[in-house]
Amino acid sequence: MTIASKLLRRTLNCVKLQSSGLSSKPQLTSEQIFAREDKFGAHNYHPVPVALCKGQGVHVWDVEGKKYFDFLSAYSAVNQGHCHPKIVSTLKQQADVLTLVSRAFYSDVLGEYEEYITKLFGYDKVLPMNTGVEGGETACKLARKWGYKTKKIPKDQARIIFAEGNFWGRTLSAVSSSTDPTCYEGFGPFMPGFSIIPYNDLAALEKELKDPNVAAFMVEPIQGEAGVVVPDDGYLKGVRDLCTKHNVLWIADEVQTGLCRTGRMLCVEHEGVRPDILILGKALSGGVYPVSAVLADDPIMLSIQPGEHGSTYGGNPLGCKVAMAAMQVLVDEKLADNAEKLGQILRSELNKLPKDIVTKVRGKGLLNAVVIDKKYNAWDICLKLRENGLLAKPTHGDIIRFAPPLVITEPELKECISIITKTILSLK
Ligand SMILES: Cc1ncc(COP(=O)(O)O)c(C=O)c1O
Repeated sequence: MTIASKLLRRTLNCVKLQSSGLSSKPQLTSEQIFAREDKFGAHNYHPVPVALCKGQGVHVWDVEGKKYFDFLSAYSAVNQGHCHPKIVSTLKQQADVLTLVSRAFYSDVLGEYEEYITKLFGYDKVLPMNTGVEGGETACKLARKWGYKTKKIPKDQARIIFAEGNFWGRTLSAVSSSTDPTCYEGFGPFMPGFSIIPYNDLAALEKELKDPNVAAFMVEPIQGEAGVVVPDDGYLKGVRDLCTKHNVLWIADEVQTGLCRTGRMLCVEHEGVRPDILILGKALSGGVYPVSAVLADDPIMLSIQPGEHGSTYGGNPLGCKVAMAAMQVLVDEKLADNAEKLGQILRSELNKLPKDIVTKVRGKGLLNAVVIDKKYNAWDICLKLRENGLLAKPTHGDIIRFAPPLVITEPELKECISIITKTILSLK
């Protein structure tokens, strides 16, 4: 295709997008969009320079009409693919009927959702929230209350243990447990009663759990933001056994790893274990609306009484309907199986890349990352991938996460593997 015909095709695509009725204003160019955000928005992110205006399944389009494979999936929120028709139509239907009542009143949807999600995951009760970090906050509050009421920890002495490299959001509690200076530096003073141990280290965990004031250990089954750090086989089972032995609650943060991403509905299923408190978020709404959930059994969940915790939007009818549709899509479309099968193919192909560039490949299901040799720049590689039609984001300077929507098909994955291979080989 000549350059002129490529340009014509992109212009036509762009006109098609603009005439989709989303805006009557003239469409800005990507450069204008970057400049506007830079001028009016806080500088708390450093996005890859691409301005998106449409998404469908595994694809997104920029405002100039260029089509990309999305290999980030909004940090695993879009497991069901962009704008999944069943989720979007549920949202539209419920939006016409009832969106928010707050928890001052009952709604005809909340109980339906609570029954659905507790049966799906096998817990007595759910506490509905909105974002992942609120799920983490909720789990910590719940663990402290349980610690005082049930474990009889002396007043204000409850401790929660976290693992080095954890990431669970940006609130003061979350950054208080962070070991990443970019997350915590300049935001002190920090939450008391939080301690850090190395990840994937059962001996260090047991040492801490012997303290009778420990209420909980909160951990990700795979550390996503740390760069897809997969613990040794047996770690999760070991965590379960130690927490049971020392009467400590195990909180599993499955906000990123849950909901089919790693090839199972929950990542903990890889080791056949069940946490005491389970936190879900992100793909719980398929990327359509902020919905998070904390699940636990009665002896833990009923530690919290009316008025002691909540959120205006938590459990709203719109979010609940969207979440039910999003979970149903995961089940109906067998997205865990697809993630498991395609993840194996992806890792085996990534392992064929030159080891002097891609030094490590790790992951489970479709949550994967490659470590790039220090001679090369992961950010520049992501810019080249973008040029070649695939969007990914570097983390920690030398890691690139590859986590496409789980609706990706095998031929699509193969096309993506050839984009990645071509891009990596072009560095030689
Ligand atoms: C494991 C984990 N927990 C919690 C969060 C926070 O979720 P949110 O950004 O929705 O607050 C994230 C976000 O990346 C996460 O990866």
